Amino acid sequence: MQYITRENDRLVVPDHPVIPFIEGDGIGKEITSHVQAIVDNAVAKAYGGTRKLEWKEVLAGEKSFNKIGSWLPDETMETFRHCLVGIKGPLTTPVGEGIRSLNVALRQELDLYVCLRPVRWFKGVSTPLLHPEKVHVTIFRENTEDIYAGIEWAAGTPELKKVLKFLEEEMGVGKIRFPETTSLGVKPVSVEGTERLVRAAIEYALKHRLPSVTLVHKGNIMKFTEGGFKKWGYALAEREFPNQTFTEHVFNKIKIEQGLEQAVEAYNQAVESGKVFIKDVIADAFLQNTLLKPEEYAVIATLNLNGDYISDQLAAMVGGIGIAPGANINYNTGHAIFEATHGTAPDIAGKDKANPCSLLLSAVMMLEYIGWQEAGELITYALETLFENGYATSDLARFMESGKPLSTSGFSRKVIESL
Ligand code: NAI
Repeated sequence: MQYITRENDRLVVPDHPVIPFIEGDGIGKEITSHVQAIVDNAVAKAYGGTRKLEWKEVLAGEKSFNKIGSWLPDETMETFRHCLVGIKGPLTTPVGEGIRSLNVALRQELDLYVCLRPVRWFKGVSTPLLHPEKVHVTIFRENTEDIYAGIEWAAGTPELKKVLKFLEEEMGVGKIRFPETTSLGVKPVSVEGTERLVRAAIEYALKHRLPSVTLVHKGNIMKFTEGGFKKWGYALAEREFPNQTFTEHVFNKIKIEQGLEQAVEAYNQAVESGKVFIKDVIADAFLQNTLLKPEEYAVIATLNLNGDYISDQLAAMVGGIGIAPGANINYNTGHAIFEATHGTAPDIAGKDKANPCSLLLSAVMMLEYIGWQEAGELITYALETLFENGYATSDLARFMESGKPLSTSGFSRKVIESL
């Protein structure tokens, strides 16, 4: 057995790495096997048979519960921990089982602090935009903090009363309008949490030679949390990447001290020398701007809740909400889980109708992450060609001008033929 390891801050990938996979519930069964077949074919083609992924199934979700009585066995966690890189299909969320969400549990256990969502348009895919080709954005969503941390108390409970009492009596908070019927949540945002996210976004922009990283926040209202994110993000860029970035923060400083002309000159010089421009925008303005001038954004770094909204809006803009790929990554340890972003689609499960592209494009991200981008590019190119010619599963094909709807298996066969 060969395993991916991490040495000197880099992944070391053998030619036959073990890749754990969770098949997933519902349509997971159908899409996972097809995605594996496509990936195997692409890898064989790209490397002439010298490289191969060794798939290892690990259990989670309903399949796991029915087989061994556990929604998320320790062995699954251990395998992901040991193998570093894995992939998962969609999982049924257990109802009333003590686990809020299996996805959240996996992210927390491995401290996968980046939720990575690339968004692009595929020619042929129907979209509400006139110029979807202008949307080419990679979102870095913070995955471990913010209002999503799950620290909240329900109205009327003794715990809530205790927190309210503390806030009112010890912190002098008098602004809670209806204390008797209020629930409360806590929004932790830290320097460390912000810095590791923003660092990953800047490193990604540098590696892919992208022009900018935009910090998206609501710091005008939430001064210390979202405002902190902006402030710490800029400070990190200026401290850790002084020769590779130019920040809007510095631009504004030059503008105030030396005038606009000087600031523009400094900016132009920075762009010419290939520096990444670090800027920020308030979340509501960002959502407008993505519709009005999407070409201004390349890499987005944002907090957890903003990132949730932004990911769906941008994916919808390119008609790709059903095929959007995603990954959860800890760039410090190397741990990464690539995933389908949709659910188990119980309404079409078992009908050979599901679109495998969300999981497939996540697999492409995984191939890139382990440095096998040549195989990933073959798959991307095959998808571009198929979509352009109207070949897709029915969820996409029905909105295409000359759409030719195919079953999951029919579409997957076509992808393999087109590699
Ligand atoms: P869903 O994403 O499963 O389905 C919403 C709609 O999209 C349905 O009409 C479905 O047929 C369609 N759809 C989803 N994926 C598709 C695909 N690949 N191809 C074609 N059509 C597709 O969301 P829903 O119904 O809210 O959730 C069902 C189950 O999935 C629940 O147990 C939920 O908790 C779980 N879920 C799991 C996720 C994960 O594991 N990442 C994410 C979202 C939901």
